Amino acid sequence: MALQIEPLNRKQHNRSAFSYGVDSLDNYIRRQANQDLKKKIATVFVLIDSPNTNVIAYYTLSSYTVEITELDNSWVKRLPRYPFLPATLLGRLAVDSNYRGQHLGKLMLVDALKKSWEATERVASLAVIAEAIDEKAVDFYRKYGFRPFVNSPMKLYFPMQSVRELCQTLNI
Ligand SMILES: CC(C)(COP(=O)(O)OP(=O)(O)OC[C@H]1O[C@@H](n2cnc3c(N)ncnc32)[C@H](O)[C@@H]1OP(=O)(O)O)[C@@H](O)C(=O)NCCC(=O)NCCS
Repeated sequence: MALQIEPLNRKQHNRSAFSYGVDSLDNYIRRQANQDLKKKIATVFVLIDSPNTNVIAYYTLSSYTVEITELDNSWVKRLPRYPFLPATLLGRLAVDSNYRGQHLGKLMLVDALKKSWEATERVASLAVIAEAIDEKAVDFYRKYGFRPFVNSPMKLYFPMQSVRELCQTLNI
């Protein structure tokens, strides 16, 4: 058995068994993710324990825009005064509840950050944005260095420069 993170493939991955226990996250991977993928609304990456094809965890990435007024002043000071800035949205991230606490959430987050950083070679992005579903998710993201938006504490950002530093520290 080997953990592998792969782009979602409707024909290869079994999404029906995924269960975090929150409808929005369970139904998304079971019913919506493939549609979003096809329509280029989000890329979807899944974790499997090969050769088993059950989805154990997943995350999504999309292009995004942030308003400069949403970011904290210490960072804004160093940015050009464009009203809108390009970013990368980590729209969803979930680990099946049977696999909680095995550092798979961390594995998926780090992989998402690395892919986000690599993508900036072709499409610029200032930060990775995460939308937390609850306070626990906020705490999880903050643990890795995400900072909350000024007026939306459930929305967090991680400057791409910090993503780069994290990838260098982890040597990935
Ligand atoms: C948040 C989530 C991804 C964590 O997944 P997980 O696999 O159980 O977590 P991990 O085992 O990878 O934890 C990695 C580290 O984060 C910590 N951590 C996990 N959940 C945490 C939380 N809610 N608050 C603070 N720290 C948390 C762990 O203690 C661990 O710390 P350590 O490295 O010092 O031991 C998972 O609970 C989940 O799927 N949540 C539901 C969806 C969600 O909230 N997604 C985010 C926004 S859509």
